[in-house]
Amino acid sequence: MSDAVIEKVDNAGVVRLTINRPKALNALNSDVLSALEKELVELEQHPSLRAVLITGAGEKSFVAGADIAEMRDKTPEQARAFAGQALRTIKRLETLPVPVVALVNGFCLGGGCELALACDWAVASDNAIFGQPEVLLGVIPGFGGTQRLPRRVGPAMALDLVTTGRKIDAHEALRIGLVNRVMPQAELEDYVAELTKQLMGNGPQSVRGAKQAVHDGMDQDLDSALALETSLFAFCFAGEEQTEGMSAFVEKRKPDF
Ligand code: CAA
Repeated sequence: MSDAVIEKVDNAGVVRLTINRPKALNALNSDVLSALEKELVELEQHPSLRAVLITGAGEKSFVAGADIAEMRDKTPEQARAFAGQALRTIKRLETLPVPVVALVNGFCLGGGCELALACDWAVASDNAIFGQPEVLLGVIPGFGGTQRLPRRVGPAMALDLVTTGRKIDAHEALRIGLVNRVMPQAELEDYVAELTKQLMGNGPQSVRGAKQAVHDGMDQDLDSALALETSLFAFCFAGEEQTEGMSAFVEKRKPDF
């Protein structure tokens, strides 16, 4: 592991970002957020990006939240700027055109949970702990938790978590729909490798289109969202992927995307 607070490995368009501050349980300070945003700006221009994996260094923590020591003496204006930097960075992660998978290997608290909420997939090790404990620190979630959490798990459960600050284990996180899968920690990497392989086997433009339809449609009324889906569906027929995918089915062979 290098000294960089964000490590990047690009394996044929599957880019893995590792938040590398294990001594502070990968807490998000300004340096981590700046480095992460820089990587994401580059990824937005990546010519052949297929998937992004994001995780925290070490086996103990994904991200244990925003950096409390850094936040302690902030004024309201500085707090607003810090939250703004985080919200912008997390939005960039969320709006990458390809699937983004969070590998949650341990503590996933506060800003860490808010980061995971912006990912399309969250795969957790069975020792993962989730929560929005901000009220225990005299604040509220500031990196999107009050908005993305109710959209993911519903308002009742979101209110439970953000007002009590209680922590939940990986199995409860799975039950409420906060994560997609729970794995023994030793199997997490193999599972994600399999998931990535599955994503890579599909048409890259269709995967992007499916993500775009879900994300952009969620913020619209149903009729507008269905119209968006129709446009994106029709657009598929302008490319080679649809011809290849449907021809392969008819010819009883595997598609070559
Ligand atoms: N910020 C800064 N440092 C942190 C941190 C954080 N969020 N979480 C952990 N650390 C640091 C600890 O201070 C400690 O550093 P030192 O070794 O220098 O003392 C190191 O990481 C290891 O932590 P612990 O010794 O506390 O480890 P533990 O295993 O006993 O406990 C823990 C782990 C339960 C996660 C505990 O560290 C903890 O409660 N952390 C804070 C979690 C939290 O409240 N997160 C929300 C932050 S606020 C937020 O995120 C606001 C927002 O929406 C933007």
